[in-house]
Amino acid sequence: MDVTIFGTGYVGLVTGTCLAEVGHHVDCVDVDAAKVEGLENGVVPIHEPGLEPLVRDNHAAGRLSFTTDARSAIARGEVIFIAVGTPPDEDGSADLQYVLAVAETIGLHLQRPAVIVNKSTVPVGTADRVRDTIARALAARGADIAFDVVSNPEFLKEGDAVNDCMRPDRIVIGTDNPAAIDKLRRLYAPFIRSHDRIVAMDVRSAELTKYAANAMLATKISFMNEVACIAEQVGADVEMVRQGIGSDPRIGWHFIYAGAGYGGSCFPKDVQALAHSARRHGCAPRLLEAVDAVNEAQKNHLFELMVRHYGGPETLRGKTVAVWGLAFKPDTDDMRAAASRRLLEQLWASGAKVQAYDPEASREALRIFGGRDDLVLCDAASATLDGADALVVVTEWKQFRSPDFGELRDALRDRVVFDGRNVYEPAEVEAAGLAYYGIGRGRSVVRPE
Ligand SMILES: NC(=O)c1ccc[n+]([C@@H]2O[C@H](COP(=O)([O-])OP(=O)(O)OC[C@H]3O[C@@H](n4cnc5c(N)ncnc54)[C@H](O)[C@@H]3O)[C@@H](O)[C@H]2O)c1
Repeated sequence: MDVTIFGTGYVGLVTGTCLAEVGHHVDCVDVDAAKVEGLENGVVPIHEPGLEPLVRDNHAAGRLSFTTDARSAIARGEVIFIAVGTPPDEDGSADLQYVLAVAETIGLHLQRPAVIVNKSTVPVGTADRVRDTIARALAARGADIAFDVVSNPEFLKEGDAVNDCMRPDRIVIGTDNPAAIDKLRRLYAPFIRSHDRIVAMDVRSAELTKYAANAMLATKISFMNEVACIAEQVGADVEMVRQGIGSDPRIGWHFIYAGAGYGGSCFPKDVQALAHSARRHGCAPRLLEAVDAVNEAQKNHLFELMVRHYGGPETLRGKTVAVWGLAFKPDTDDMRAAASRRLLEQLWASGAKVQAYDPEASREALRIFGGRDDLVLCDAASATLDGADALVVVTEWKQFRSPDFGELRDALRDRVVFDGRNVYEPAEVEAAGLAYYGIGRGRSVVRPE
């Protein structure tokens, strides 16, 4: 099939590349000319495992191209995806300006019947707005071209996006038009050969499904962070609690880790946007608001532990803090709403200096923070320890999981580790002569002599 995709971010680029990999002809359109030029020259602007060779191979095979020329890409596409950003507006609602701008462009240039597929995460009712926008632009041209608007929310995980796209656990398609389902069924057939994983439903339910999925996952995380808070106060270990509840299949092992708070481009904004929608429609989103509030508080927690350890924020002045991990989670360079950002701002505000290492996110950190005297971006985890007083682990990259604690003890002037992802065994760290603070590990907090 001839496929056009608007937006070459995490979703659009991965989707386009995977569709090309299974044989479709894909034109990816973006308004960011530098990004498009880079992609045409094999420069993949994001870190996503396995993506770069797929982009290169499919581009070389002529199945995948990148352009800023929306007009000709729309003329070719029989399926046109919208995969542009839906960032939060000031009031927490989803900002639809990019989605509606694409709809307008499609209406201006549509030449042949097409299925318009919305992959961006959008509030219920957006498909209707996209349909109206396209129809208005077509009418203004005096053009009478048949088109459908379908909701097809994306569930990929950054860090494993190619795998998720190639082996989806479900493909949600929202439309009341059987012909559109049929078309998408054929488009996605190569990804679901072993058994059907298409869940067809009406448009509004599909739009809500995406928010419900992210809100449910965020809820599990905030729940565990709240349990961690209790554990810390009552002298229990949330890691033990996690193991005690995860084996119950009704609860499950996924997303029950306490930590430094969830971040990324989706959970924070989607929880807020769903709460906003709920309020607009007269529902009280008590749970969603609590999930968000717990997470906001949790992002302060690492800093609070440091303040508690040192005995007041003013005591952090002049300290050098080694930070391991800046990305919002491992295997990505994405720092949108990352817990590290809150921590760094708090450390800087109290006069501490940061020496940070992230395997992939240094470039992004430099873009966000710019050059500043109190931030050193190191090219290895060990380099952050040079002259450091304390270590904070913010992202659980695999390479941080088994450090030599003896070396850490010798390197860190204050001999203290703050483990924002509970990756270490407290007893092991303490045995090496370091003070250890995890999240919700009340029994293991060692106060220095
Ligand atoms: N990132 C994820 O893990 C993820 C997962 C599921 C769903 N989503 C949703 O998918 C959507 C896209 O997310 P993302 O992370 O890929 O966004 P992103 O910010 O990484 O990329 C968006 C891209 O769209 C481009 N763009 C903006 N306006 C455009 C226009 N008029 N025409 C063409 N291109 C345009 C931007 O230049 C940018 O390259 C969002 O709604 C998000 O909530 C994201």
